Amino acid sequence: MSRLTGKVVVITGAASGMGEAHARLFVKEGAQVVLTDINEEKGQKVAEELGENALFVKHDVANKDDWQIVIDQAEKAFGPITGLVNNAGIVGPLGPLEELNDEDFNRVIAINQYSVFKGMQTVLKSMKKTNGGSIVNISSTSGLVGTANDISYSATKFAVTGMTKTAALELAKYNIRVNSVHPGVISTNIKLFDEVITATPLGRIAEPEEVSYLILHLISDESTFTTGSEFVVDGGFTAK
Ligand SMILES: NC(=O)c1ccc[n+]([C@@H]2O[C@H](COP(=O)([O-])OP(=O)(O)OC[C@H]3O[C@@H](n4cnc5c(N)ncnc54)[C@H](O)[C@@H]3O)[C@@H](O)[C@H]2O)c1
Repeated sequence: MSRLTGKVVVITGAASGMGEAHARLFVKEGAQVVLTDINEEKGQKVAEELGENALFVKHDVANKDDWQIVIDQAEKAFGPITGLVNNAGIVGPLGPLEELNDEDFNRVIAINQYSVFKGMQTVLKSMKKTNGGSIVNISSTSGLVGTANDISYSATKFAVTGMTKTAALELAKYNIRVNSVHPGVISTNIKLFDEVITATPLGRIAEPEEVSYLILHLISDESTFTTGSEFVVDGGFTAK
């Protein structure tokens, strides 16, 4: 039996980068996966490649109504949802806090932070039907230590860390586990911070799959006593 047999997992931002890598691994390990993204063309292509155990749904994670559509379509295709990976995220314009405008700040909050709240809230009804579930919220090392010149990103990733712990406390009674994952520098389309790359003890950028295997563990029944915790995959960056 594969590690995710019987699991139905929604992954946001799955058209590229780490989300795509998670989707590919999860299907390989026996899950049925709903990939969501604003990039319809790329998302559709990945889902088609993955075959009958994958479905793509167009989704702006900052949009409340889109969330209900995603959950309804996922249930219709594969049944009640057992896992949610809140992965979609952006880096806003880099620069000193003195220069950041409200519009840019609020856009990052909507995509990286509001989405995690709304995703957890919307998936609950479906997850409760399965007698338990696992939610993985993607934070960052920027949700554990400060990141100069990116205050909006930092705000959202610390918020994800906090929301994860609060949700874990509230949802434990439903046997729904909630954990956060904190990647360091991973090779995707996202802007990387040069100072983080040079300060990474392992001395390299990681491949997305090096994060996927941790999330696979958290989404599977291998981690049934794990909730409210922070999982760091950063090549030692925050060890100092
Ligand atoms: N790459 C890194 O080094 C790194 C480090 C720490 C944390 N992270 C976090 O990991 C997650 C994935 O990042 P990545 O590096 O794979 O980025 P990426 O840019 O390669 O992929 C992000 C995906 O999210 C999608 N997306 C963007 N806005 C969206 C929206 N409003 N609704 C739905 N989908 C949307 C994009 O189309 C894209 O497919 C993000 O939350 C990011 O903050 C990345």
